[in-house]
Amino acid sequence: MASTKSRNAAQERWLILRNTLLKKKPVSEVSHSSIRVHNSLDLFTVGKYQSKENLDNNEWFKYTLRNIESQENASISALIRRPSSKISLEDLQVADNTGNICIWASEQAMSCYLVKNLDHFRNSSVIELGGGYSCLAGVLLAKYGSLQQMLLTDGDENAVNNVKEISLHNKLPNTEVAHFKWNNVGMLSRYAYTFDYVLASDCTFRDDQRMPLVTAINILLKLNGEGIIFSPKRGVTLNDFVLKAESVFGKGNVSVIDKYDDNIWNSHMTKLGLSTYNHELHYPIFVRICKR
Ligand SMILES: C[S@@+](CC[C@H](N)C(=O)[O-])C[C@H]1O[C@@H](n2cnc3c(N)ncnc32)[C@H](O)[C@@H]1O
Repeated sequence: MASTKSRNAAQERWLILRNTLLKKKPVSEVSHSSIRVHNSLDLFTVGKYQSKENLDNNEWFKYTLRNIESQENASISALIRRPSSKISLEDLQVADNTGNICIWASEQAMSCYLVKNLDHFRNSSVIELGGGYSCLAGVLLAKYGSLQQMLLTDGDENAVNNVKEISLHNKLPNTEVAHFKWNNVGMLSRYAYTFDYVLASDCTFRDDQRMPLVTAINILLKLNGEGIIFSPKRGVTLNDFVLKAESVFGKGNVSVIDKYDDNIWNSHMTKLGLSTYNHELHYPIFVRICKR
């Protein structure tokens, strides 16, 4: 039987989808407490962005990382476009639309981790899988990481079209954006053994997609490449992903890291007693995979 906590979590997630579908309120206000809870890490300041050229009719926001600056003491930020199109019932039936709802806490935690470790990524080739409508972490890494190559991807066409606009307006160097399903044989063979790093956040919750994700990471990585995966524990789902990754990459090559950032960890510890905070759903865990 499902526990009260997991029932509440499922109800909470459905409420977000339902309100988005009905478009009762703008996405940013949908189920205010749920969105806020899911995005409770508070790592970014988010301000509405209106350029002189008025980029387009969509809403644009400037996401600026709190308390982290570049080597030139400038703030670290990206312009992010929010998808405006109403999600139809058909969209929900035929596709995984979770990437068009909000930027989940795992994407934000992964952004913070990447930006704090920019030196690791210099001259490397990187792909983000399932980046949703923002690919925020990949966008920030492409903007500040001096990469050789960045490929921003998702399996949903609407999300990918939005990321194309984001890539253009942030003038991301050496960056391409592509529609990429993890089990697409054509894409996997085209990019086999290409990347030093594969990024993915909050992509381990669907039972039928965990093994395809592990397989894709294995095919896409070069030898000695690294998978950087952030996801909440969410029932048995993350553990199952880890077991599947261990079966492919070997037990010693998969690390599960709870404490990857002091600020995020301290904020998590202070929230542990709150009734709105369910660490299984809201705290992103870092899984590092090494391909040997
Ligand atoms: C919960 S969302 C996470 C989005 C983003 N990474 C974030 O954390 O904000 C899961 C994403 O995985 C994508 N996805 C699900 N199954 C996929 C597949 N088989 N191939 C590619 N993308 C997939 C969805 O389109 C969605 O954008």
